[in-house]
Amino acid sequence: MDLAAILQGIGADMAAAPDRGRVADYIPELAQVDPARFGIAVALADGRMLTAGDATVPFSIQSISKVFTLAIALGRLGDQLWARVGREPSGHAFNSILQLEYEKGIPRNPFINAGAIVVTDAILAGHAPREVLGELLTFIRTAAGDDDIHINQRVARSETETGHRNMALAHFLRAHGNLLNPPEKTLGTYFHQCAVDMTCTQLARAGRFLMAAPGMPHLVSPSRVRRINALMMTCGHYDASGDFAYRVGLPGKSGVGGGILAVAPGRASIAVWSPGLNDRGNSHLGSLAMERLARATGWSVF
Ligand code: DON
Repeated sequence: MDLAAILQGIGADMAAAPDRGRVADYIPELAQVDPARFGIAVALADGRMLTAGDATVPFSIQSISKVFTLAIALGRLGDQLWARVGREPSGHAFNSILQLEYEKGIPRNPFINAGAIVVTDAILAGHAPREVLGELLTFIRTAAGDDDIHINQRVARSETETGHRNMALAHFLRAHGNLLNPPEKTLGTYFHQCAVDMTCTQLARAGRFLMAAPGMPHLVSPSRVRRINALMMTCGHYDASGDFAYRVGLPGKSGVGGGILAVAPGRASIAVWSPGLNDRGNSHLGSLAMERLARATGWSVF
């Protein structure tokens, strides 16, 4: 299999694709990003890195950060975390508030916004936001083996000024006793965690710990890696998680900046970025690229 040629083919076709989806505009700073961008990077178990397109251009990882905060929260709290957040797909949009009312303030999973806000609240306990964000950056930098990974303050400020849905979710959680810190403190931390900038190359490297292959960074136990992957497969694309599993067959996590991190267990960590989103808030060309890569490589876990 000539993986370099496969990636070049995907990169060329995606660069030329006429339908690129719509760039998110509810965070004004993200609306500025050029929809013509497309990058892909594959970190292989043998240590090689293959890329195509804009793989070294930084983008806002947004909800992909939720994978790293989940890993930190499970390390800190273990199974106690599951008293505050579920492990089921929601079947609703990433920012939906509906279920939270029926289900009395326990979010369905750690990847929808309500669940991720609870996860961030849980790791904040007794710490300053600066410390938690420092721990997150240390985790990501260690996973990637790269210290040049930072929070984009403009993106964080942009979401802080406009994130009224998340404010509603946080206050609703607090009303149900499932937010231990003041909503502004938890949200300030959450908005900054989402505003981490990374390139596809950095993100593919940062995902290597989820491959559970020999020689890869060992940041969480093998059983926890399996569980994080299970949650990425069932919940990582919100109400399109079933579709991603059907088309790609790999655990994946999307972000509204247009990035997707996917894991081929034992084989590869893959990052793709194209800013235009589909109607479920996931990268349109990124999902197509992942589908093509999985088909060409046979890496689906099924
Ligand atoms: O909370 C938000 O709305 C954003 N900071 C992150 C959402 C996101 O990335 C959804 N993913 N596709």
